[in-house]
Amino acid sequence: MKVRLEGGRLLDPRSGELFEANVAYDDVTGLIVAVGNDLGEADEVVTLNGELVLPGFVDLHVHLRDPGFTAKETLATGLQAAAAGGFTQVACMPNTNPPTDQPAIVRDIIARGRDAKKADVHPIACITVGQAGNELTDFEALKAAGAVALSDDGKGVQHGARMLEAMERAKAALLPVVIHSEDETLSLDGVIHPDAAKRIGVKGLLPESEAAMIARDILLAERTGAHLHVCHVSTEQSVALIRWAKARGVRITAEVTPHHLLLTESIITHDDAVFKVNPPLQGERDRHACLEGFLDGTLDIIATDHAPHTREEKSRGIAKAPFGMVGIETVFPLLYTYLVAPGVVPLNRLVDAMTRRPTELFGLPGGIIRPGAPADLAIVRTDEERRIDPELFYSKGRNTPFANWHAAGWTVRTILRGRQIFEQGEERYE
Ligand code: DOR
Ligand code: ZN
Repeated sequence: MKVRLEGGRLLDPRSGELFEANVAYDDVTGLIVAVGNDLGEADEVVTLNGELVLPGFVDLHVHLRDPGFTAKETLATGLQAAAAGGFTQVACMPNTNPPTDQPAIVRDIIARGRDAKKADVHPIACITVGQAGNELTDFEALKAAGAVALSDDGKGVQHGARMLEAMERAKAALLPVVIHSEDETLSLDGVIHPDAAKRIGVKGLLPESEAAMIARDILLAERTGAHLHVCHVSTEQSVALIRWAKARGVRITAEVTPHHLLLTESIITHDDAVFKVNPPLQGERDRHACLEGFLDGTLDIIATDHAPHTREEKSRGIAKAPFGMVGIETVFPLLYTYLVAPGVVPLNRLVDAMTRRPTELFGLPGGIIRPGAPADLAIVRTDEERRIDPELFYSKGRNTPFANWHAAGWTVRTILRGRQIFEQGEERYE
């Protein structure tokens, strides 16, 4: 069946201009057939009212908690939340139980992810067995099972020579090494930025622990030629190091989260673990450096680090609660409203960093609207402002620091290979 979306606005990736055009796709082949104004016959016409028709969003960093931590999230709820956020492709982190260190676990996540009939899921496999930081996993076998990258996200590989060997083998396997950068001999058991920690009376997490590890891994990436992808960059020094490495020709890419672009440690005025995230919310200079790095391409993409936890876990206070914030349902509205609408970030840069650029980094499908490409689309309303109410999330996680913020730019419909995977107001998976 040929479907035509009429009355939407598309973004020209070259000029950055919005223009009115229709999009026709075939829901059998799942491909876009034509883009333009006079597209001929269609079996079904969907009439839009000036909504943005964007490529489906792509998030290279989410925690879906399944297997093992399904009280926090399941593949079904996490992938529905992703679709609700306009995402068609997500890559999920391996800190599950068991961790994703075996090909069978990779295959299981892909198979059950498909059953959810929501966004596509691409597992990131562990660098080390059990994420214990010692023995390396079988990269080739994990890749053959469908893993798109390698990471020990949540902690990171502390042992330098082990990381060197990991990069050598990842290079051979053609897999990106995705690093959670934290030198634990510096971060120790700190929980939030030292300034906020002083106010609240908890242990500070030294921000330098991030750049220290990035520096090591840049050197190892330069030596090995591996593709190094740096997760959730949060400090000024980290941005400077990545910029320097790029100028040297190191194969390095990086991501920044919505919370590190919009918040600083100054928001932590009382003991509420909703603000506890790793890396922590940092200072204003850091936030500003991340924004600059994002604008000049040093930080290539937006990733949410969607990290759902239960209400009970997050009620334990900053010292004891787990690190993490949810983000996949609110990332586009927040960045659209607070960075694009005020003119800080061009719409084109935001969309590119959530679509084409991430597909390029991990070799994923989608990310572009043109004839012959998969019909992976996010249809977004920019004229309707809503208050963020965590109780309405499709994710099981309610742990957002953005509750009660107002934002526009909500996804009303998400399409994956020509099939609708989300429509505003649909029922929630259990
Ligand atoms: O805040 C975080 N939460 N940072 C991480 O590195 C891990 C994640 C999680 O798994 O909850
Ligand atoms: Zn993470």
